[in-house]
Amino acid sequence: MHSLPVFLRLGGRRVVVVGTHPVARRRIDRLLAAGVPVELVAQPLPAGFEHLRNHAAVTLHNGPFQPSQLAGAALVIAASEDPEANDAVLVAARRQGLLVQVIGREAESDFFFPAIIDRAPMILALSSGGAAPALTRFLRMRLDAMLPAGYGQLAELFARYRRRADVLGDRPARRRFWDSIISGPIGEKVFAGRTEEAAADIEALLNKPELMPRGEVYLVGAGPGAADLLTLRALRLMQQADVVLYDALVSPAVVDLVRPEAERIHVGKRASRHTLPQEDINGLMVRLAESGRRVLRLKGGDPFIFGRGGEEIAELAEAGIAFQVVPGITAASGCAAYAGIPLTHRDHAQSVQFVTGHLKSGELDLDWARLVQPEQTLVFYMGLKAMDRICAELRAHGLPDDYPAALVEEGTTSSQRVLCGTLADLPQKKDAADIRGPSLLIVGNVVRLNETLGWFRPRHDAR
Ligand SMILES: C[S@@+](CC[C@H](N)C(=O)[O-])C[C@H]1O[C@@H](n2cnc3c(N)ncnc32)[C@H](O)[C@@H]1O
Repeated sequence: MHSLPVFLRLGGRRVVVVGTHPVARRRIDRLLAAGVPVELVAQPLPAGFEHLRNHAAVTLHNGPFQPSQLAGAALVIAASEDPEANDAVLVAARRQGLLVQVIGREAESDFFFPAIIDRAPMILALSSGGAAPALTRFLRMRLDAMLPAGYGQLAELFARYRRRADVLGDRPARRRFWDSIISGPIGEKVFAGRTEEAAADIEALLNKPELMPRGEVYLVGAGPGAADLLTLRALRLMQQADVVLYDALVSPAVVDLVRPEAERIHVGKRASRHTLPQEDINGLMVRLAESGRRVLRLKGGDPFIFGRGGEEIAELAEAGIAFQVVPGITAASGCAAYAGIPLTHRDHAQSVQFVTGHLKSGELDLDWARLVQPEQTLVFYMGLKAMDRICAELRAHGLPDDYPAALVEEGTTSSQRVLCGTLADLPQKKDAADIRGPSLLIVGNVVRLNETLGWFRPRHDAR
């Protein structure tokens, strides 16, 4: 380790800043935010520092630096843009045995300010010791995006109940209790902004520890295939689940991101090759949650778009099991974006309809007259089997033979294939290309835009 990470409580002791290097302003603002009084030796006060002039916690010294100004300081920051002026501060601080930082000269500094992620009272600090500031910045941004704002509220709740949790007994018992809150329904309530409800739950548990939370279910949209199209919330829940139920449409790359210790149950479902009937899936989720487990129900795309997500949570609601639903990018959005086919467009389509092309006992019972309206895009899910019929019906109900249509197979993945054509010739193109994977049929004038807007190059595409 290049340095000792500590958090300082300065208890009213002052920090002396000498100079007004642009970085000094950020340091002073950070010091003031932490309640630390600042003495600033600066002559004159440049633009960007005026807000400090009348600040109650800032003492300004106009005039040249005097070593006596450092007496009794907790820390010293040499922040001049003139290296010689910084040398003078460095020498004076060292002589007085004070810790000093020289802005821009990490190797000579006794301390430096880390990058922080502020979820007060929780604060994460990162530093490369000056070796790789760009990497520190990058990691800070990534971590910042991954950590919900609710961690601050969660930490406040923990502080509120920390002493009371002693009633739970020894350390392991207390740890189990807090762990169940962090990654259980109470923590989720905090992340969903229901902090007081969460506080009431903690209160109730501390009064009656035998009421430790039951399991819960996360109904999560896994998106159309590419793993980096998952939401951050989906990823967080995937990494805290005890058991995952996933179906055939969820790509292996996504399943790989589930917590390695979690039990994996493949519940299948692709076209008519059902592995587990829907009722059994619903019942299994209830039983797993009742046994105290955190159940991740991972579904392709969005769980509420042709995903039977509503039916699955209805049973949970009836059984009184806590659940939450995380939206995912639906196949229509994913395929359209990755095929360069905007679903709506001011010049070509003012509306879009998502339609199921699934055959019920061999029949396709659709309101064709409503589907053939002008200036509208149609997206058929589960329409591969019935595609020839769909194209023929749309033509029979008034759309011209040369009306644009596209088939997107395994959209957003490295195996994506996009076939563009017309209602008349797309069925043959589909047969010639031997399309078998999950595919979406897009019908409408917007399909023509693929020629200019198609941007994604899957692995097999050598263009
Ligand atoms: C049962 S539906 C589920 C839809 C899912 N809930 C969603 O929001 O995307 C399955 C159909 O979605 C479409 N689909 C799902 N992922 C796809 C992908 N990556 N590429 C093309 N079509 C896809 C196919 O039409 C497939 O038959």
